[in-house]
Amino acid sequence: MSHPQTTANTPEVTRPENCEPRRSGAGEVRALRAGIIGCGAIAANHASAYRDLPGVEIIGCFDIDDQRARAFAAEHDIPRAVTTLPALFDLDLDIVSVCTPHPTHEEVVVTAADHGVHVLCEKPIAIDVASAERMVRSCRDAGVTLGCVFQRRLWPAAQRIRTAIEDGTLGDPILARIEVLLHRDSSYYTATPWRGKWASDGGGVLMTQAIHYVDLLQWYLGDVEWVMTAADTFTHGDIIEVEDTLAATLRLSSGAIAQFTASTALTPGLGQRIAITGSTGATVSLFEYPEGAEAINDVWAVPADRSFDYPETILDDRALSEINGSLMPFHAAQIADFVDSVHAGRAPVVTGEDALRSLGTMSALYRSMRSGRPERPDEYASVNAARDDSADSETPGKETVR
Ligand SMILES: NC(=O)c1ccc[n+]([C@@H]2O[C@H](COP(=O)([O-])OP(=O)(O)OC[C@H]3O[C@@H](n4cnc5c(N)ncnc54)[C@H](O)[C@@H]3O)[C@@H](O)[C@H]2O)c1
Repeated sequence: MSHPQTTANTPEVTRPENCEPRRSGAGEVRALRAGIIGCGAIAANHASAYRDLPGVEIIGCFDIDDQRARAFAAEHDIPRAVTTLPALFDLDLDIVSVCTPHPTHEEVVVTAADHGVHVLCEKPIAIDVASAERMVRSCRDAGVTLGCVFQRRLWPAAQRIRTAIEDGTLGDPILARIEVLLHRDSSYYTATPWRGKWASDGGGVLMTQAIHYVDLLQWYLGDVEWVMTAADTFTHGDIIEVEDTLAATLRLSSGAIAQFTASTALTPGLGQRIAITGSTGATVSLFEYPEGAEAINDVWAVPADRSFDYPETILDDRALSEINGSLMPFHAAQIADFVDSVHAGRAPVVTGEDALRSLGTMSALYRSMRSGRPERPDEYASVNAARDDSADSETPGKETVR
């Protein structure tokens, strides 16, 4: 069995010309000039993170809703709220955060690339692989850094699992088990009308919540060979089009197997977990409970280092604003990494290519939901010269997959 293909800790970016840190006359590195696009719920995490970082100044923000942009600027002490996207890029920015609804990410990211501005895009990078591919290619051609927010990778508990895989503690990973067991009430969808619709959200629990665990799965185990999904909408079917519950089986290119369960139909939600078992028999796991809290290693069952850490009580569901607020420390950690990656001319902790790769898996999971058959991830070899693109690109029938 081969080791998983990993990218995040093996930066390969050479510093493009416009990645050079800006210097003032005395040779001091000049502060990066940051902008925020989309001034809704999660943008506050980006504003707070930039504000607390030395070497960054937030210069301006933009939202298609003028009033929202002005209120956001006032609340976060941002000097300019502008009324068009070009006006934001007239502010001589170095770096932008994209915090807009999913299908708008491509236009904003490509515009940033055209202006030579480094971009940190909220997840999902896009809702279809072709769109994500265009974004990655635009940023690469423009020589700007593209990162995608998957802040759960920055948890110490997540990094400890990655280390246990890299240092051989687990042997080869053979089995991953993922559970995303969450609660969403109807107001989640009615308060933000773009949510819950195929065209504007791109999917349900998988595209919006469980995507973080697809990212972790591939960070740990590498590329996916095929997937088989069953899904349905069990709650709020009167207001949403998308799936709220799914169960999937995945075969990784390494030969490992993964079981993936995700739902927003629980009341109360019971948290999120990824557990990895290796060929040595050892199992390690992380558990995020309540949703948005920093995960702990709830199971650590390796020789000479064994512990269980399970919660003793079931908690009430929290408001979305509280969940988003509790994500803040690791948004801050990822934004600090992104700023440092731009200064240093290295790859960020989650690259555009990483986000494209996990979106390819998501796309296969959605195709399998519709076809009722196993499906392979979309190909994206055109933006990943290093990847072995010899895999069969034919859509598999049941008889053609292992
Ligand atoms: N990393 C995480 O854990 C996390 C958590 C929550 C949300 N998100 C992601 O952040 C993004 C935003 O989510 P949200 O919950 O803040 O949404 P939101 O609806 O609260 O905010 C989106 C804002 O973007 C504005 N907007 C829409 N189209 C625009 C455009 N073309 N240009 C500029 N502004 C535009 C809207 O007016 C709105 O103010 C989504 O991609 C979402 O999945 C990530």
